[in-house]
Amino acid sequence: MPIAYNKRTHLCGQLRAAQTGEQIILAGWVNTSRDHGGMTFVDVRDHTGITQLRFNPEVAPEAHKAARTLHNEDVIAVTGKVAHRGEWVNPKIPTGEIEIEVAEIDIINRCEPLPFQVNDPGDTSEDMRLRYRFLDFRRPEIQRIFRMRHAIAKAVRDYMDDNNFVEVETPFLTKSTPEGARDYLVPSRVRPGTFYALPQSPQIFKQLCMIGGFDRYAQIVRCFRDEDLRADRQPEFTQVDLEMAFVESGDVMAAVEGCVGKMFKAALDIDIDTPFPCITYEEAMDRFGCDAPDTRFGLELTDVTDIMKETDFKVFREAIENGGLVRCIVASGGEKLTRKVTDGLTEEIRGIGGTGLPLVKVSEDNGSLKFSTGVAKFLHPVCDRLCSAVGAKAGDTIFLMPGSRDEVGKYLHYVRTRLARILDLIPDDQWNLLWVLDFPLVVWDEEEKRWFSTHHPFTAPRDEDIPLMDTDPGKVRSKAYDLVLNGTEMAGGSIRIHNKDVQNKVFSLLGISEEEAHAKFEFLLDALRFGAPPHGGIAFGLDRWVMLMSKSASLRDVIAFPKTQRAVCPLTNAPTEVSQPQLDDLFLKLNLPPAK
Ligand code: AMO
Repeated sequence: MPIAYNKRTHLCGQLRAAQTGEQIILAGWVNTSRDHGGMTFVDVRDHTGITQLRFNPEVAPEAHKAARTLHNEDVIAVTGKVAHRGEWVNPKIPTGEIEIEVAEIDIINRCEPLPFQVNDPGDTSEDMRLRYRFLDFRRPEIQRIFRMRHAIAKAVRDYMDDNNFVEVETPFLTKSTPEGARDYLVPSRVRPGTFYALPQSPQIFKQLCMIGGFDRYAQIVRCFRDEDLRADRQPEFTQVDLEMAFVESGDVMAAVEGCVGKMFKAALDIDIDTPFPCITYEEAMDRFGCDAPDTRFGLELTDVTDIMKETDFKVFREAIENGGLVRCIVASGGEKLTRKVTDGLTEEIRGIGGTGLPLVKVSEDNGSLKFSTGVAKFLHPVCDRLCSAVGAKAGDTIFLMPGSRDEVGKYLHYVRTRLARILDLIPDDQWNLLWVLDFPLVVWDEEEKRWFSTHHPFTAPRDEDIPLMDTDPGKVRSKAYDLVLNGTEMAGGSIRIHNKDVQNKVFSLLGISEEEAHAKFEFLLDALRFGAPPHGGIAFGLDRWVMLMSKSASLRDVIAFPKTQRAVCPLTNAPTEVSQPQLDDLFLKLNLPPAK
């Protein structure tokens, strides 16, 4: 029986006891169906929820007969009357007080046997869910995420509009943009042998917008980076990208804080305190061993190099003599840090390139503290000094790490994060926002024996550090700022260089010759010659915000059609081979490695 589904009176999550007695039309998917003492009950679902339909053979025999043929995910429309469920109220769902006494049903479209049950996917693999993403989308959890994503994006757009930012669209078919990853290349047909690069970010274009007098630019924009994928990295991802003219760092940071406040309000109805706390890069590395610290728990690093100089432990002495240091983390909760757990951690450290994880357990013996475990014998002579320096007490475990500052930071950051999980120290529903400032302008790459930008080559050095560019480049601090949420880098930006001489100086420090700079960035260098205002900006990874705010485990959960770890789209199977004529059109010849 055809029903005018376009005239549906309600959505499936809307009806309440107040509508009892009303005539309604609903449409949606069959979530479940079951026969009960002659009656058939069907839950019909759409993006707003489910409503129970009751098919009574005494009241509507035709509809009842049809209902008995339904399968999950069939598409139906019904007409009927809202009835109170009386003693059968289901308090677990918002529509649980009512059900529909169905008069007529229209089975609009049958569903074939499903690859997985939408109402209970169980342990269906992620690949399978992504292969049938349209079925996955029907799940309330996924709907919740994408509606939250929409609310966040809308809050951003509203904020930008309210604050005089202008949206300017920047090209996708463009030239390499220097964010440090590999480019995705697109061959040109009309200029054989040449390639566009997909933008790793709109960085240079937004600077040109400032030089062009837009004053404030913002865009929600796709970026493309061919890099190793992780849970928080996708090859194409979305940035909230903004740039402002005549500003200093604090102005950009204040604009971001305002925007982030609106995002939290829209997504979670939370009021976030501003301004966010700030920490310098140096302090972050010293206290947490990483530049994006999670400040929801303690376990901070303490430097114990001076104390360790006095021990006979060869590993420590050698590290210190080679210019390195020794730092440690003290953890309470000894009962959870069993031998099995600490051995496991040691193995994990080896797995990420370390040599081990020296540790001592602290206990009390006749009123004085002592150490036990493997390296304890070397540390006995400094037991009291070490314990009082790091505040260790009986029952604690001290994890020590010798090596260069970077190595110690890398491994202790790993240990710190793992310990927080093992010891259950991470509070639920806490949002710790943190600015990290004063990054080094450049970092030395030992393999390539040259300096690289910590952010990108257009980042301005701090004015007072400019002279150091000639004498001690590693000490030059930049006007860059990163925003960190619960240990994840959520945004990064900087005040830019608006002076062509400083820009050329940075290029030369990075080993980019004049010709190379000219070939790569002529348009920016040109623009810097024609009255560039001081400007700065930032970009935040929208996907990462949605991931954290929706408490999703991976970016794949919050991107509609994501790529897998191997950069493949399970739905379309892209990337795929192309035909010979297509290659011929582009004058391309493949030179593939032998098949494995
Ligand atoms: P940056 O490279 O730090 O800065 O990127 C800004 C933010 O984008 C997010 N992000 C990613 N998200 C998902 N997958 C990825 N592969 C990925 N890479 C980066 C992060 C990061 O903080 N042009 C500069 C910004 C500026 O200086 O204004 C830029 O792109 O959340």
